[in-house]
Amino acid sequence: MTQDFNTARAILEANDRGGYTVPNGRVYPFQWNWDSAFVALGFDTFDRDRAWIEIESLFRAQWPGGFVPHIVFWQEDEGYFPGPGVWDSGRTPPTSGITQPPVAATIVRKLWESALAAGQADAYQARAEALFDGLLAWHRWFADHRDPGGHGVVVAMHPWETGRDNSPEWDAPGESIDVSNVGDYVRRDTGHLDAKMRPTKLEYDRYLALVQFGRAAGWDHPAIARSNPFQVADVGMSMILLRANRDLLALAQALGRDGDEIAAWIARAEAGIHYLWDGERRTWCSRDLRTGRSSGYVTSASFLSFYAGLRDPQSDEAMLAHFDRIAGRVRYMVPSLDPDDPGFQMIRYWRGPVWAVVNWMIGHGLAEAGHRARAERVRSDTLALIRDTGFYEAFSPLDGSGSGGDDFSWTAAIALAWQTPG
Ligand code: DGY
Repeated sequence: MTQDFNTARAILEANDRGGYTVPNGRVYPFQWNWDSAFVALGFDTFDRDRAWIEIESLFRAQWPGGFVPHIVFWQEDEGYFPGPGVWDSGRTPPTSGITQPPVAATIVRKLWESALAAGQADAYQARAEALFDGLLAWHRWFADHRDPGGHGVVVAMHPWETGRDNSPEWDAPGESIDVSNVGDYVRRDTGHLDAKMRPTKLEYDRYLALVQFGRAAGWDHPAIARSNPFQVADVGMSMILLRANRDLLALAQALGRDGDEIAAWIARAEAGIHYLWDGERRTWCSRDLRTGRSSGYVTSASFLSFYAGLRDPQSDEAMLAHFDRIAGRVRYMVPSLDPDDPGFQMIRYWRGPVWAVVNWMIGHGLAEAGHRARAERVRSDTLALIRDTGFYEAFSPLDGSGSGGDDFSWTAAIALAWQTPG
């Protein structure tokens, strides 16, 4: 795949806007939070300094209370909706008012260890310390504002926060969102891409209604947490934050910083995360905080329990059984929705397609838990999709066809990061 790795580098370089990387120049022409974290992993394989700059740019947009937005609008671009004027966050640079899965601490730990291995600790120490402070403040924001029930989970206030925008997990909780006053708007995504690959009009109405709700609340996060019409404990963000806190604690130890507060967050999550276990479906699921109802869906996020470092023999066994059942049904692992679910759609965004970044997290988690063969299946399927189809946003798990935008930054980054196992 040498040629593919050269192409992957070229994609990152072409999508570089000078200190930050757009996920895809047409569909997503700004800086996205978790995209940038994964992109840094890709840059780190050939340009260490540029990798750190990617995350430093993101944290330049951090709000005083620790919140890190999901989009930073470093420049104007009419090709995306909803743009900075719709969010109206009042910040410089303009940003959205919601966050995204906190993968950054895990990536910063990797960047730091890669700098150490290259004998460059001195050159990166001060930068690691500055990022540590930003990450700690962001994770504290999660603990203070996004776990109202004290379950040690992350409660998403918008489907976009989860990164898995149109997962069916948000369908039932979304019914309580009033869309009657959303008004007219023009989507741009369906101007760039086949509408069959994108969320529906009803889903977009809900997304917009929630943006309007947050904006009317002045993006006051405590106020939003009290009354937002959508409050779902997201299995993806919860597992990702637990993992990120473990990595942040390791960074604290490496940098000689106090880790007690982080250790307490980890203990709280380990004690409470079974709130997301669905005993009937025997899987990890998102749960609607307002009704207490589990989504009941087996999604790719359900498999992040390994990445989170949960080591519970019973739930692990159940998840491995789901993995093996699904692996027998698709050509490429890991579909974003169980292919046995009637709502499975092989090209519609988070209702079926395979996503390289989620695979990277699942693969690492499985490998760390000792499930080497399954981990290798996830890695080799990901690389095969990229080799045979290209650097798409996502891929059909059935026939490998590309879905969403092409020349996608985070897909390129994962190809680079996964050149060798581990
Ligand atoms: C979009 O606009 O589709 C994004 O996923 C929102 O973050």
